[in-house]
Amino acid sequence: MEIRRPDILDTAPSGTDTPRGEPTRVVVVVPIMGGRSAQAGSLRAPAARRDEAVGLAAAIDLHVASSMVVTVNTPRPATLIGKGKVDEVAGLVLAEKAGLVFVDAALSPVQQRNLEKAWNAKVVDRTGLILEIFGRRARTKEGALQVELAHLSYQKSRLVRSWTHLERQRGGFGFLGGPGETQIEADRRMIQERITRIERELDQVIRTRRLHRAGRRRVPYPVVALVGYTNAGKSTLFNALTTGGVLAQDMLFATLDPTLRQLRLPRGTKAILSDTVGFISDLPTMLVAAFRATLEEVIEADVILHVRDVSHGDTEAQAADVAAILADLGIDPDSDRIIEVWNKVDLLNAPAREEARNRAARGETERQLHFVSATTGEGLDSLRVMIEAVLGAGNERMVVTVPARDGETLSWIHENAAVEQRRPLADGDTEVTLRIAPAKRAQLEERLATG
Ligand code: GTP
Repeated sequence: MEIRRPDILDTAPSGTDTPRGEPTRVVVVVPIMGGRSAQAGSLRAPAARRDEAVGLAAAIDLHVASSMVVTVNTPRPATLIGKGKVDEVAGLVLAEKAGLVFVDAALSPVQQRNLEKAWNAKVVDRTGLILEIFGRRARTKEGALQVELAHLSYQKSRLVRSWTHLERQRGGFGFLGGPGETQIEADRRMIQERITRIERELDQVIRTRRLHRAGRRRVPYPVVALVGYTNAGKSTLFNALTTGGVLAQDMLFATLDPTLRQLRLPRGTKAILSDTVGFISDLPTMLVAAFRATLEEVIEADVILHVRDVSHGDTEAQAADVAAILADLGIDPDSDRIIEVWNKVDLLNAPAREEARNRAARGETERQLHFVSATTGEGLDSLRVMIEAVLGAGNERMVVTVPARDGETLSWIHENAAVEQRRPLADGDTEVTLRIAPAKRAQLEERLATG
């Protein structure tokens, strides 16, 4: 038996006709615990919960056809949500031709199976969807292994006395009336063996992490990483900052994954902008290690843009969560390389803006703060200037004269330094004012001396 990660985008059941190549249509169901089963974690505003759930589904290119908040006063062991709501969702799934339903809660395997039957659609719960997101975004060996480990633990926990996708794969062959306990035991053993193997591999990876890191710098540019809560606007900012930044002939970037793009800064500095997995409130414990592993690259970033949705009611608590995780990764939350980007200022009215500015001004740290709107473009120019300033903090300013015949050195300067000014001189030479990293300064001086 082969254990594979179920790809929720591939598993539309028969009867739904999502044409090939089009994103899977999904209905998002957000159960809100009411009555006596309400817990602290469920008290967040239903609208915010729904936004987050829709954002999660959109994070892996699902097409959210519809979303629905469902109050659950008494959780049903068989379906979690009540019969009336199950029927309502069934109607929605049919009307929307959805192949998938994302239920933003922890479902037991039995509940998942019953809901799949009732809706004639694949059902994925919160842990399942987040695992899928992490799986797509893990870029390092360690990240991929951690995600796989979490996936296996998830599968293992769902093998208990239930119908699982593993059994489903064998459906129809069980002439003895379906898989028995022995088969489940065998599956569990196989998963456990794989878990043990991955744990051993992880040990090895972690032990040689330094070597891996050294080899991982695939591009000769500084890295600017975006971090922040899901829905804070990282991807929107990522696009806004890099629009037009990917040149067709730039193979270096064409071969990298879509979450890395070239960032051009006003004075000519080139950097890589890297989008990361969004932080998620109430992250299932099983996924914490995997989440951290996907953020590993942030440790190495030259600049970290911490994107905050300043219009969100929980923005302070979210920022504290982000700071705690960064600290866990060994990144000083007060480090100069972190720029706090207060996004979505367009959603604030004048008094709220004023209040946000005051809050920022009262901040006890010297942190770099920045107000922007990724959608209107407000503040992006000065954010670019600030990124460049942080990147170039250690750079030296030089004024050099490049001889007329030395076009090669001129191109070298444009590739390796940030040009502030170019002034043609009477004899055809060019005077260039630039900022350059100390390590490159010697190379430039040698070029000019021998040129
Ligand atoms: P994940 O990929 O889930 O981590 O989310 P994200 O942080 O990448 O957020 P994303 O860019 O997907 O934006 C989430 C929502 O906020 C989208 O509906 C955006 O259109 C919206 N949004 C982003 N930036 C702004 C902004 O500056 N103003 C307004 N009004 N909306 C914004």
